[in-house]
Amino acid sequence: MLSCDTLIRNASVLDGSGAPPEVLDIAIRDDRICGVGFSLACSAASVVEAEGLALAPGFIDVHTHDDTSVIRSPEMLAKLSQGVSTVIVGNCGISAAPVQLKGEPPDPMNLLGGAEVFRYPTFSAYVAALREARPGVNVGALVGHTALRNNHMDRLDRIATDAEIAAMRTQLGEALDGGALGLSSGLAYASARAASTDEVKALAQPLASAGAVYVTHMRTEANAILDAMDEAFAIGRACHVPVILSHLKCAGIANWGRSEEVLHALEAARAAQPTGCDCYPYAAGSSTLDLQQVDERVQITITWSVPHPELAGQSLASIAQAWGVPHLDAARRLQPAGAIYHSISEADMRRILAHPATMIGSDGLPNDPRPHPRLWGTFPRVLGRYCREEELITLPDAVHKMTGMPAQRFGLAERGLIRMGYFADLVLFDPAKIIDTATFTDPIRAAEGIESVWVNGTLAYTTAGATGNRAGRFLQRARTPWIQ
Ligand code: ZN
Ligand code: CU
Repeated sequence: MLSCDTLIRNASVLDGSGAPPEVLDIAIRDDRICGVGFSLACSAASVVEAEGLALAPGFIDVHTHDDTSVIRSPEMLAKLSQGVSTVIVGNCGISAAPVQLKGEPPDPMNLLGGAEVFRYPTFSAYVAALREARPGVNVGALVGHTALRNNHMDRLDRIATDAEIAAMRTQLGEALDGGALGLSSGLAYASARAASTDEVKALAQPLASAGAVYVTHMRTEANAILDAMDEAFAIGRACHVPVILSHLKCAGIANWGRSEEVLHALEAARAAQPTGCDCYPYAAGSSTLDLQQVDERVQITITWSVPHPELAGQSLASIAQAWGVPHLDAARRLQPAGAIYHSISEADMRRILAHPATMIGSDGLPNDPRPHPRLWGTFPRVLGRYCREEELITLPDAVHKMTGMPAQRFGLAERGLIRMGYFADLVLFDPAKIIDTATFTDPIRAAEGIESVWVNGTLAYTTAGATGNRAGRFLQRARTPWIQ
């Protein structure tokens, strides 16, 4: 008889491919799935009776800013408690490595922490620190364009010179050799806005031969979003590299209702080149406080402020009123600061979330003292609110967006599916109960309905909380085919 460490019996298995659920037994030995079948005959050290529960591959959070958290707070409770077993760091052009600071980190690199957390001058130093920290979840890493610019440029409000681009490419090449998943950009931010399309193309060139991807927080998500999408697709075509549009949305009241044309543009591109996007299931965004996004009609909440920490949690409108100044002046006085912008329409968000090109990414900000609830709620919210309650997406499709699709696109080998021999990253949840509980007023709250999470075969989380057995690994890029 087969012997294994853990036998999960009679689970409703969602295998991550999008296929309908099947009631099966799953066996785990060491870090792998060693049995998939009906009534497996297997002597197991531990048996989990999973009747009525769903078993899926551990969720992959494709859009995170957990770069320094995975080392500083390796428990990763915000993610494990959602069923997430892998995070991808280094998004929006900002990564913790490779970074050599000359002073304070520029906006928005400060989202990852103060100067003291940037300790990884090379990608390999970051990987070594990660391995030593042994985080609770697996980590795949992108290299940020803004981080590279900041390493090699004296100021960020201009185009990089050829020599600077060459230096950035050398660093990017080292990271790709070390297993980085690709390059990210954050062209909407002042620290990268001055970069030309050609500067980004020059950097994206080596991605193709490495089998890596280009991930972008586009130049704008507001009025000129179609131009910004064209720029991203042009970079992908010129460099023969797949393009992932980060946190796709139509930002600002003037752009509400434009998700249809945005998705049409995405579909047109997908007919010609590998491309897709990610999305979080909320009608509000969050980042550093950006004066360009201040609009008196939009509810903006301040989440932190260096000169006024006491105002965290208050609305910009009430602060401006108390000070007797326009919103824009109040925003200026609060900087540097963080904010939540209720500037997305629910209908647009739902349309993008449900689109077959869309993966799920939290974009959670773990260093924020009053974070957007997406940090703790994203995955259970998709499964509870948008699958079960609103029937916007089927459960197999939603799980595919969180598992098989991202594993394929980012080249995470032998993950993202429940298959014989694959790594045993698994989440057992109650599809009738799963729901987010984090809210805008009370954002640090674990979701309900997650029964157990295994990471590389190790039980990492149960209804009693994190087990303390941290088994996450650094995930190197592998070549996997992109499937549209
Ligand atoms: Zn972003
Ligand atoms: Cu982001």
